Formats: sequence, structure tokens, C-alpha cells
Amino acid sequence: MEVKIEDDKDMEYFPMRADRKGKVGGRPIQAILQEATGQLGLAGIENPRLEAEVLLAHVLKVSRIELFTRWDEEVPESVSREFQALLARRARREPLAYLIGAREFWSLNFLVNRDVLIPRPETEFVIEAALRYVQGAARIIDVGTGSGNIAICLAKELPKVHIYAVDISWAALVVARQNAAYHRVASRITFLQSDLVSAFAPRFSSKLIDCLVSNPPYISSAEIATLAPEISVFEPRLALDGGSDGLDCLRRLIGEGKGVLKAGGRVILEMGCGQREALVREFQDQGYEVEEIVADYAGIDRVIVARLDS
Ligand SMILES: C[S@@+](CC[C@H](N)C(=O)[O-])C[C@H]1O[C@@H](n2cnc3c(N)ncnc32)[C@H](O)[C@@H]1O
Repeated sequence: MEVKIEDDKDMEYFPMRADRKGKVGGRPIQAILQEATGQLGLAGIENPRLEAEVLLAHVLKVSRIELFTRWDEEVPESVSREFQALLARRARREPLAYLIGAREFWSLNFLVNRDVLIPRPETEFVIEAALRYVQGAARIIDVGTGSGNIAICLAKELPKVHIYAVDISWAALVVARQNAAYHRVASRITFLQSDLVSAFAPRFSSKLIDCLVSNPPYISSAEIATLAPEISVFEPRLALDGGSDGLDCLRRLIGEGKGVLKAGGRVILEMGCGQREALVREFQDQGYEVEEIVADYAGIDRVIVARLDS
């Protein structure tokens, strides 16, 4: 069997998706998938069939849809072994996105590894809010950029903005830079290692930022252990842990943000379940006007927008 390579724009970017020519001699795709579905199901994976298909398509370097047209084709032994190794990792609850090295966000592909949080669909509400408030040649800071998903989507959607993408984790910044280069927006994003906005005080003599966006760590330290192992064991603690009530970074951002924001500048923050009241109070105490609160698809208040009084 010869495995056809997808004409895929991601191939150059995701090095694992390179040429793969199979040799005849293994078991058919259909049988392998059936067995793998059983293995993942036993391990408690919620959508075992779908995940088995994604992983097999990944090792074969074809699209998932293509599997269905090749049902009876045999998978080479070496590919089968690679697939089994990934299945075993998934059965130990390592997230699928880390295994295939990518996750889609805002309909774009992002490289991810264990140094960064896997982008979540609810974070797209941060992008939507920013698009409602930011116009023209604005300066935006994305604090805790992780994979760079927020900064990169905003750079693509708002061609005149300049974005400062900061993270305290150097390893996360390496991933964010790669993603920015892939999406061809690196020239409009300045990457900085910084504890929140602390690196900006010596850089700017005046307050120049129009909008501060952030999906900071906002889970309480105690809650982390109660989350699924995909999160609690595999995602970076630094990306999750918001201290005793989850609000450590959020509170600091509201206060320290004033040091970089223009008068009338906005803060757009992702938040966790039940954090709305405390954040509204914090914004008001710090001299902001809360303009909007956006609920996510589950009806949970997820994004808060506030304007610094002029
Ligand atoms: C919840 S993740 C968000 C990642 C990405 N923006 C997203 O939406 O998927 C939070 C990020 O904040 C970073 N972080 C945590 N504490 C920080 C701090 N004090 N200063 C800057 N970044 C911080 C973490 O390294 C992590 O990348």
C-alpha cells in the first residue's frame, strides 16, 4: 500500500506531517481502529472512536476523512507500532492535542506542547470582545500569551494593531513565536518575558496601551487536583493556578494594568465560574467602569470588559 500525502498547508509547519510511504504487510485500517476504540473506551476516554481516528490519521499522515476511503488498506508494521505507543499515552490520559502537537482555535492551527495550555473554545469570546472594542492602529498587550493564540488571532483580524505578547514562561514564548511565524504575523508582535506587565514600566515613559487582554491562570490551587488528569497532570501548573481563590493574577492585572493603559483604555479578561462579583468590585475599586460581561456557551460568565476612567 502506498499512503498518499495530503496536499496540506500545515505539512511544512508540523514536521511530523512529512512524507510517509507505507509497505504492505500490516493489519487493515478498519480492524486497527476497532481494536483501538476498545482500548481507549476501557481507559475511560469519552469519544474513543473519534480519538482513535484522529491518532491513526496523524501517524498515517492523511486526513481523517481519508481513512474511510481506505478501510481495507493495510497499515505498515512500523506505523502500527507508532500508533500503539500514542494509544498507550492517550490511555494514560495525556491530552490528544499534545500527542498530535496541534489544536485548532479560531479556525487556525496552533502548535502546542506541554509548555503551553491547550487553547480552549471559550477563549474565543475574548477575541470577539476585543474585536468589538479595538479599532485602528491600537497597541494591545496579551498577558500570559501561552501558545500565542489570542495575540496571533488579534494580529490576523486587526491588521493595523501592534501586539505585545508576554508570558513569564520562556518555554511558552518559544511556542508562541513559532506560531506567530507560521501565521505570518511575527513582525507585528513583540514577545517579552515578563511577570505580568512588570517589564513595561522601564520600557514606556508614558502609558501607551489601548487594550490589555488576558486569559490568566484563574483556577483555585485546591481545585486543580479535582480536575480531569488531562488538565491536572499534563497541563502546566503555571497556566492554571490562580492562588487560593483563583483571583491572584486577575487582581494584580487590574491594579498593575493601570501602569500601562492610556486613560480610557480597556481591560478584557477571561474569568472562571463564580468570579464575576469579586472582579466587578475590584475593577470599580481601582477606578474602572465595567462595560460588559459575556457568558460562554454553557451560560457561565466568562469574559469581563472594563474601561479605565479618563
Ligand atoms: C491560562 S494560560 C493562557 C494561555 C493562552 N493565552 C490561552 O488563552 O490559551 C495562562 C498563561 O499565563 C502565564 N502566566 C502565569 N503567571 C504569569 C505571570 N505572573 N506573568 C506572565 N504570565 C504568566 C502562563 O505561563 C500561561 O501561559
